[in-house]
This record gives sequence, structure tokens and C-alpha cells, in this order.
Amino acid sequence: EPAMKRKQALADSLEALREEASHCRACHLWKDATQTVFGEGPPDAQIMLVGEQPGDKEDLAGKPFVGPAGQMLDRALEHAGIDRNKTYVTNAVKHFKFVRRGKIRLHQKPSTAEIKACRPWYERELAVIKPDLVVAMGATAAQCVFGKITPINKNRGRLIDLNEGAKALVTVHPSYLLRLPDEETKAQEYERFVSDLKIAAAFLR
Ligand code: URA
Repeated sequence: EPAMKRKQALADSLEALREEASHCRACHLWKDATQTVFGEGPPDAQIMLVGEQPGDKEDLAGKPFVGPAGQMLDRALEHAGIDRNKTYVTNAVKHFKFVRRGKIRLHQKPSTAEIKACRPWYERELAVIKPDLVVAMGATAAQCVFGKITPINKNRGRLIDLNEGAKALVTVHPSYLLRLPDEETKAQEYERFVSDLKIAAAFLR
């Protein structure tokens, strides 16, 4: 019972954060975006997955990783033996940044200023959830998680201590796999992504 009360208190804190973030004006990205896309998942998750920013589909749905990158992530998590529903999934930047090209909204990389402006939300999510492991997927997530530019290839696939107490694991962003033109390279890189995620799988109770 005390455990249930504790979990409910965490869920309430997270809901309060989500509500506050829905009015965020810390940078200009809110103006063109449909809505803030806050993190999603159990408030006591052992693993927190961090992406870059919501894409077109996420901006419309209000949920992280529901578009093509999300499908790739879901598949890789399953292959790694991780139930996505046991993880907390969020993004370094919580509004969609894009340029209009005719009918389509083309994703744009968030700037360092935007990553910094949004970081307090990540810090507050981290403080509530207190995961054992934070998985930074791609360069923007790594910049958010470590508070500085952190190269993916030099750091991927091994556990790194965070000041906040948790461990961090750096890997590629699932969109990177979608962009690879050559099928053989894509298959290889997918397997590397899955093997990185298998390191994370050990953190599930
Ligand atoms: N890419 C991301 O980084 N995050 C999402 O939520 C969707 C696509």
C-alpha cells in the first residue's frame, strides 16, 4: 500500500509537470508547433529513453515516438527484449521544429539554445522518475543528457556514470537507421542498435 501511494504521488508530480510544460514559452518553438509533446510511461520506470524532438506525427498526436522512428524503435526494443510500456519515453526538445515545404512539414535540427531552454523539463522528469538508466538516442539527446556536445560513436554501447546518480547509455537515433540508403548497412546498423539496447534490457526488473 505505501508503494502504491508512492507511485500515485509520482504520477501526480509527472502530471503537474506535463501540465506546466504544456504552457512552456522558454523558446520560440511553441509558436508553430501544435502542442508540447511531453514524456510518456510509468512514473517509476527503471529506464528512460531520450530522443531528439517530436516529429510531424508526434506533434499531431501529442505523444513521443508514434511515427516512423517510433515504429523502428518499437521493433528494436522488442528484439532487445524490452517492453516499451515499462520504459519512460521522452525527448530532449519537446516541441516540433520544422519548415514548411509545400504540404509537408520538414523536420529541422534543434539548436543548442533550444536544447538548453528545454533541458529543465528533462531534469524535472529525471528527478521524479529517478531511472536507473537513461538511454540517449542520437546527438541531440546526448547533448541534453550530458549537458554538453557528446560524440555518439566514441561513447555508444557502454555504461557511463551521470552526476544525477543514474547510468547513461549512448546509442544512435532510430531515424538514423531509416535514413541509411544501403540495405546491408541498414541491417548491420540495426543489429548494433539492438545490441546497445540489450545492455539496457538488463536494467529491467
Ligand atoms: N524522433 C524523436 O526524436 N522523437 C520522437 O518523438 C519522434 C521522432
